Amino acid sequence: MHEASEEEIRNLIDIIEAVAKGNYSNEVMEFTKPGHSEMIQRIAEAMGMMMVRVEAREVRLEQLIDELRDLNALLQKNITQTVITIANALGARDKYTKGHAYRVSVYSERLARKVGLSDEEVEKIRIGSVLHDIGKIGFSDRVFSDEDVSISEGIFEEIRNHPKIGVDILKDLTFLGPVLDYVHYHHESLDGTGYPGGLKGEEIPVGARMISVADCFDAITTDRSYQKGRTMEEAFAILRKIGGKNLSPELVEAFIEDIKEKGMF
Ligand SMILES: [Fe+2]
Repeated sequence: MHEASEEEIRNLIDIIEAVAKGNYSNEVMEFTKPGHSEMIQRIAEAMGMMMVRVEAREVRLEQLIDELRDLNALLQKNITQTVITIANALGARDKYTKGHAYRVSVYSERLARKVGLSDEEVEKIRIGSVLHDIGKIGFSDRVFSDEDVSISEGIFEEIRNHPKIGVDILKDLTFLGPVLDYVHYHHESLDGTGYPGGLKGEEIPVGARMISVADCFDAITTDRSYQKGRTMEEAFAILRKIGGKNLSPELVEAFIEDIKEKGMF
């Protein structure tokens, strides 16, 4: 057993410095072999053991991060589902609203897929559609009245407020991301005459424009207290007529194509 040479020590230091930077090669194990001084062998063995422990901890840490990510996704899913359940309770107050959010969500999801959006974007649009009218939870009973009441200024104002109320309800659920904008802007109009922002054209998020098309189609084809639901063909004609003024014409055409292919409720 000889004394450690300066070169041996320098080589070992180089490897230890590389390990310190996260480069866990097995080179250090070379220094545990016979032929090296006892001191060098002991340092190399200790270093080898330390690397094994650090690597094991890193693997465990990565597992924990994965578990945490999965748990967070599950938590977000459960919170979203809880909010959707609350939104569905709207149906108990208004027989027109019953099933509306679900139908709009199916139509919007199909439209988003048809225009080639990613799975993640499609899912945000689906959630936005289910929740788009959650702000109606704040409506007074007179808005839900089945009688053909003339719309007073107060009721009109209340109705126009529902996108804003919806965002206020959801705004702390920051993980919803663009969903908040979809809820906020689902009553905007391409020509800037919509509410609440008076946004024009592409200022309106595309997800919100998709929900608008689906929302209009469902409103036209569903029986209301004041009118019987129109046929599919009549609804297409109305959508085309307001396409360009209120709705994005290219989305209207993609939507019509989708309904022709897959049908309606
Ligand atoms: Fe709405």
